[in-house]
Amino acid sequence: MLCRNISPPDSATAELDSQGMLKSCHCERSEAISLNTDEKVNRLFRGDMLDVAPLLARESFRLIYLDPPFATGREKQGTRDGMVYDDRWRGDLDSYLPWLKERLQVLCGLLYCDGSLVLHLDWRASHYARVMLDEIFGRQGFINEIIWHYTGGGRSKSRFSCKHDTLLWYSRHPRPIFNLDAVRVPYKRTSGFAKGGIVAASGRHYQPDPRGTPVDDVWDIPIINPLANERVGYPTQKPLALMQRLIVALSNPGELVGDFCCGSGTTLVAAQKLGRNWVGCDISEAATACVVSRLCDECGLAGIVPAEVGGSR
Ligand SMILES: C[S@@+](CC[C@H](N)C(=O)[O-])C[C@H]1O[C@@H](n2cnc3c(N)ncnc32)[C@H](O)[C@@H]1O
Repeated sequence: MLCRNISPPDSATAELDSQGMLKSCHCERSEAISLNTDEKVNRLFRGDMLDVAPLLARESFRLIYLDPPFATGREKQGTRDGMVYDDRWRGDLDSYLPWLKERLQVLCGLLYCDGSLVLHLDWRASHYARVMLDEIFGRQGFINEIIWHYTGGGRSKSRFSCKHDTLLWYSRHPRPIFNLDAVRVPYKRTSGFAKGGIVAASGRHYQPDPRGTPVDDVWDIPIINPLANERVGYPTQKPLALMQRLIVALSNPGELVGDFCCGSGTTLVAAQKLGRNWVGCDISEAATACVVSRLCDECGLAGIVPAEVGGSR
């Protein structure tokens, strides 16, 4: 039932500093690892990611996305029966952060040495998590802080409304896979550059790219509106558009994408539709049940049975 054992790149070499942090890492890109999307490497686990991760091959993931509990202190009700997600953290950030760090350290070992981890948090913990990730990957492992900006929902009268989440992208490699051209977006209609290009002081003429402009680190992607077909009823469900952009940009077809807090399975659905292999894990039975029905309804994958690991809740 476990993920196929995918060998790490043959030529990987890593240089550590005196504290055991990764200073540099060199490896062949994954062309050497030819994964056939038909191979049955897709797996769904129910359990704590801490118990699941050791069952998987080290250095086998191109991309791991983690959207863990945010420690919001709330129990979130979904729009369908039974789809409750408990984000009431027993304790405070002092207990949340070590919990998260222990898991991030284990997940880091599952990545190719030029793989990417994207951690999705909000204002409550993202600043602490960034320091933790600096410790795990080394400061040079930081690639981007992506701001996912959205509208909708209520507005605060006592402060500026919090309408963004933070996605922290780290890698042990200075140049992880980045398919910039695959996620270009149309130029703004008001962009003079898009209309006729610009001439630099040097006299060089820059033409707009017909594929659009590169995406920057602030992403305006709407949350899933309550009536959208995409909404499956699981609280905290993320938009497919968000996951599609991440997966296309940070992985190649046939490579392995993991989500160890997969909730309703948005990452897995996006990965499947984009021809990536996937491993999903969630501790909650409501979540894995939702993933099973989503993969069936949206991807035609019937008969997926989550492998149970350790205790679930
Ligand atoms: C914010 S939600 C993820 C939502 C998901 N990205 C989506 O689009 O539906 C966080 C998930 O982490 C799960 N979770 C909490 N602790 C976990 C653990 N120790 N191991 C695995 N999953 C866990 C929760 O059950 C919940 O489904």
